[in-house]
Amino acid sequence: MGALCKNLIIFMFVNSINAEITNDRYYPRYHLAPPQGWMNDPNGFSVFQQEYHVFYQYNPDSALEAGTAHWGHAKSRDLLNWQHLPIAMYPNETYDSSGVFSGSALIEDDTMYLYYTAHTNHPGETPNHEEHQALAISTDGVNVVKYQNNPLIEGADRQPDFRDPKVWKHGDTYYMVLGNQFTKNDTRLGRVLLYSSKDKYNWSEVAIIGESDGSLGYMWECPDFFQLDGHFILLMSPQGIPAEGDKYKNLHQTGYIVGDFDYRTLTFKPTTSFQELDHGHDVYATQTILDNKGRRLVLAWFDMWETNYPEQLDGFTGQITIPRILTLSKDFRLVQRPVPEIRAARTNIVYTGQASGGTVATLENKAGEINIRASALYDLEFFIEGINASVQIYYNASSGQISLDRGGDDGLRRTEWQPANVLILNIYVDASSIEVFCGAGEVTLSSRYFPDGPVSVRLGDSSEASQFRVINMRSTVPIN
Ligand SMILES: *[C@@H]1O[C@H](CO)[C@@H](O)[C@H](O)[C@H]1NC(C)=O
Ligand SMILES: *[C@@H]1O[C@H](CO)[C@@H](O)[C@H](O)[C@H]1NC(C)=O
Ligand SMILES: *[C@@H]1O[C@H](CO)[C@@H](O)[C@H](O)[C@H]1NC(C)=O
Ligand SMILES: *[C@@H]1O[C@H](CO)[C@@H](O)[C@H](O)[C@H]1NC(C)=O
Ligand SMILES: *[C@@H]1O[C@H](CO)[C@@H](O)[C@H](O)[C@H]1NC(C)=O
Repeated sequence: MGALCKNLIIFMFVNSINAEITNDRYYPRYHLAPPQGWMNDPNGFSVFQQEYHVFYQYNPDSALEAGTAHWGHAKSRDLLNWQHLPIAMYPNETYDSSGVFSGSALIEDDTMYLYYTAHTNHPGETPNHEEHQALAISTDGVNVVKYQNNPLIEGADRQPDFRDPKVWKHGDTYYMVLGNQFTKNDTRLGRVLLYSSKDKYNWSEVAIIGESDGSLGYMWECPDFFQLDGHFILLMSPQGIPAEGDKYKNLHQTGYIVGDFDYRTLTFKPTTSFQELDHGHDVYATQTILDNKGRRLVLAWFDMWETNYPEQLDGFTGQITIPRILTLSKDFRLVQRPVPEIRAARTNIVYTGQASGGTVATLENKAGEINIRASALYDLEFFIEGINASVQIYYNASSGQISLDRGGDDGLRRTEWQPANVLILNIYVDASSIEVFCGAGEVTLSSRYFPDGPVSVRLGDSSEASQFRVINMRSTVPIN
């Protein structure tokens, strides 16, 4: 009770000054972030009239809490230079008064069909909330009008956790996957439901794509289901998987199961177990699209629930990962590569050439790209450092592991990585984030960090790199 009162007082005090950005030290230079306020899951990722659109869970009133979700909105021609657009949806209908929760876009006939979860709270009742699927439409890519006969899908026997519609079309039929919780033998378990429709409005549940047997958590959020290189991927964000050695160390996970799916029988047959998408601290709530260049792109919320990010006191919270191209490796792992469009943010090269222990390069704008080639036979260590923050990246040749350690409580993340001959790392540093792409992108580690002052890259004392290149990157996301 005491703690709760204290939090409330702090919240009320800070709230008045918290709806605008007061300091840009942690504001990303080239990652999409909100103009102010709180951002979480990316929503409605789409290509509309040759431009990429990203909507997102948004609280315009405070950076301290998710609040009552709106849909924020931004667009870009190149996934690099972003323009903030007016709030697309407010939680202002009876059926979505406690939040316009996550959802996706279907683009057809030059129209955006935005499917989302309409959330309402019922304090003191059991269950204390309900969730239905709703539709909103935009014909100009800015103004969004909610469908008059919402909600579209009541899901009476699927309540109360029934959310995050991801919609696509195959042949003459529309499909939607939804995250859901069910109870078996008094245990709450996550699963993914499949719905279909012939007309985009009238939906029926047709299958269960997958469900937790108890080892994969109590709720599966933000499901996505798509074909990639001849197989199907069930990508999702399960909640409640217990940590196991170096695995599942974040509060909630994001990962995938590879398998095969038959549209006639609507059965998904997994060929792999669940694998984590990223091995850093801060990737959650992914969303993918097939873009107009035929690329399967993925975005994620570059944060984790229940974390006190220092940026919250600067008037904003949350950002979106660099858009990544997904492919499937022969051993059924998702390979992630940053979209090449990001290279247009490069400015000047700070350092290039061979490098040995102690080599230091300082980034001009706290933002840059680092490319490393070295022998896979030897350990490699380097640091990304600012005042009040130091992140160590370590490749351990004898254990075949790569780690990222940002210090502090729970600073270490580590996973297996065994490059054949050459060690290749591409690292993207922004004012408060680091994304490490290993090899061809078969392993990634993405974490937030909070450096004050300038940021430098330093090769560890006994490390050698045949190629070490550090490039400055410019700002491409405006602070409003
Ligand atoms: C909800 O907000 C939108 C945007 O401000 C507005 O156009 C619409 O009329 C509002 N609906 C209600 C029921 O107030
Ligand atoms: C149901 O749960 C109880 C207690 O956890 C366990 O002992 C029992 O084996 C479970 N039954 C089934 C069918 O899983
Ligand atoms: C909705 O779809 C179902 C299944 O395809 C069909 O049985 C039903 O008649 C449809 N309802 C309306 C109102 O179109
Ligand atoms: C590298 O891995 C080996 C084998 O697991 C271990 O003994 C060693 O301590 C590790 N090195 C570092 C610097 O962590
Ligand atoms: C480093 O962190 C401390 C404690 O949060 C803060 O008071 C100080 O201003 C920070 N240093 C800089 C240069 O921002």
